[in-house]
Amino acid sequence: MAQTSPIMTLMIAAVRKAARGLARDFGEVEQLQVSKKGPSDFVSAADLKAEKVLLEELTKARPGYGFLLEERGVVEGSDKTHRFLVDPLDGTLNFLHGLPHFAISVGLEREGELIAGIVYDVIKDELFWAEKGRGAYVNDRRLRVSGRTSLSDSVIATGIPFQGKPGHEQFYQELARITPKVAGVRRWGSAALDLAYVAAGRYDGFWERNLALWDIAAGVVLVREAGGFTREMDGGDFMETGSILASNAALGQTLQQALAEPKSAR
Ligand code: IPD
Ligand code: CA
Ligand code: CA
Repeated sequence: MAQTSPIMTLMIAAVRKAARGLARDFGEVEQLQVSKKGPSDFVSAADLKAEKVLLEELTKARPGYGFLLEERGVVEGSDKTHRFLVDPLDGTLNFLHGLPHFAISVGLEREGELIAGIVYDVIKDELFWAEKGRGAYVNDRRLRVSGRTSLSDSVIATGIPFQGKPGHEQFYQELARITPKVAGVRRWGSAALDLAYVAAGRYDGFWERNLALWDIAAGVVLVREAGGFTREMDGGDFMETGSILASNAALGQTLQQALAEPKSAR
């Protein structure tokens, strides 16, 4: 393993512990697919269990830090400068359907700035981690964003809004603008892994609107530390809107322009 800071070492240990439970539960879910009731109650329990382990282990590691957890919400800490941003299971629908593509995502913020992140793909045993100023890694290997400079060679990932989420129309318009210009578009169902894959140079870019902070916090650190570029879709602050575009540095502007409404149509 490349050299990790003390806090990263503790975060990795917490994530690996929660992951052991999720891996066991995923095995169960695969069995439950065929039962009539289906695995959904079981999955919400697995999700909560993983979050509990992360909360307990990270609290033990850094007793004063606060939390923003997907399931429990805000847990105030005595140290107001640090906060963990936790999604115990990103890619819930994949997990529920026995699709082996989901992750635990843990970000760390200091005074409002994202400084560390882990996205752990439990089934493929790929631990993506990054610390501000120290680079991004998958397990032991240093990560760099892709070197592609042309949209026509690029694979771009996205997230499709699902039932109850806003922005369906806008999504279809963006998809219609981008598909004729790129090599391919992918939707694999875990925003945290989408960002990790941009950091790893597997995807050349990613965009999705209306995500939550726990979906993107860790992935943003990964992309930045891998030499990539992140920005809010409409020029605002993605920490507030959750609408994010990430890519290698060369493609950022081109991708944003390709997705945007043509000026004459505004
Ligand atoms: C979801 C995944 C998905 C994205 C959704 C998220 P969850 O998170 O990241 O890829 O499209 O917007 O809500 O619900 O699986 O934790
Ligand atoms: Ca999520
Ligand atoms: Ca989740």
